[in-house]
This record gives sequence, structure tokens and C-alpha cells, in this order.
Amino acid sequence: MPPGDQEIRSIIEPYLNKTGGLITALRAVQEAIGHLPEETDAIAADIFNLSRAEVMGVISFYADFHRAPKGRTVIRLCAAEACQAAGGRGLQEQVEGRLALKMGETAPSGNITLETVYCLGLCSAAPAAMVGERLLARADVERVADALNDADGNAARG
Ligand code: FES
Repeated sequence: MPPGDQEIRSIIEPYLNKTGGLITALRAVQEAIGHLPEETDAIAADIFNLSRAEVMGVISFYADFHRAPKGRTVIRLCAAEACQAAGGRGLQEQVEGRLALKMGETAPSGNITLETVYCLGLCSAAPAAMVGERLLARADVERVADALNDADGNAARG
């Protein structure tokens, strides 16, 4: 069942008079619901006495905020310089082809989301990827697929 306005309101209201309240409130909504539904903007604007555009500006500025639910397993492929120099672009194309998904998309099944990140701290062992919670150094499409199978199995047992 989608969250109701009252649920979103009750999550946001306690942050009204706190420092950094808006961002913390938005984080709390995302944590509780799994994403930031569109209704959040108007409710947060009302509570914080801001315009909807100001709330939307905050949401679009922070890459951590997302509007749609993410897949059960998120695959992140690094697109920063060291990984690009080590074949990151080719890896991205292979993973996209294997999964029939483009970067930024979630599979219709809701199982997988494919995301771009900019550095995973494995620059000396590029290209780097992260599948669920697992970091992969010197990633290739087979290792990404294996890690995805493991993550799927863990989620199924979960
Ligand atoms: S540039 Fe890809 S891990 Fe740092």
C-alpha cells in the first residue's frame, strides 16, 4: 500500500525546529518508505514554510535522494577517471547488455537497479563495482554476474 500523506507528515514534523531539519526529514522519509514519493515535496514545503521548488531543489541536489523504489540489489559501476582509464566504459556496456538495463534503470521485476558512482575508493584496482554490499576490484562482467547471483541468493534466504 502506498504511504499516505499523513504518514509522510508525521515523519517530517518532528524535524521542523531542528538544525538541518529539512534534509534530515527527507532522509527519514526515504528510510521509512524506501524512496521519496512526489507528495513529499508539498508536505515538506508546507511544514517548513518553503516553496515546493525550494524542496525540489534540495532533493535534486543530493544524489542520495531517489524518487522511485530501488531494486532489491543495487549494482554500482564506477565511472570516475581511474576506472574509465581501466575499461570502465566497456564494463558498463557489457553489464547493461547482460542485464538488458541502462544505467539509472531498475528492472521491471524490481530485482536490480543499475547505478553510476564516482569513485569507490578502489582506484588502484580499477575498474571497480559494488554489487549490493560487496565491493569488486578489477571487476569484469562475469564477476559482477556472480556477485549478483550471490546477492540474489542471500536476499532469497534473507
Ligand atoms: S575512480 Fe573508480 S574506484 Fe576510484
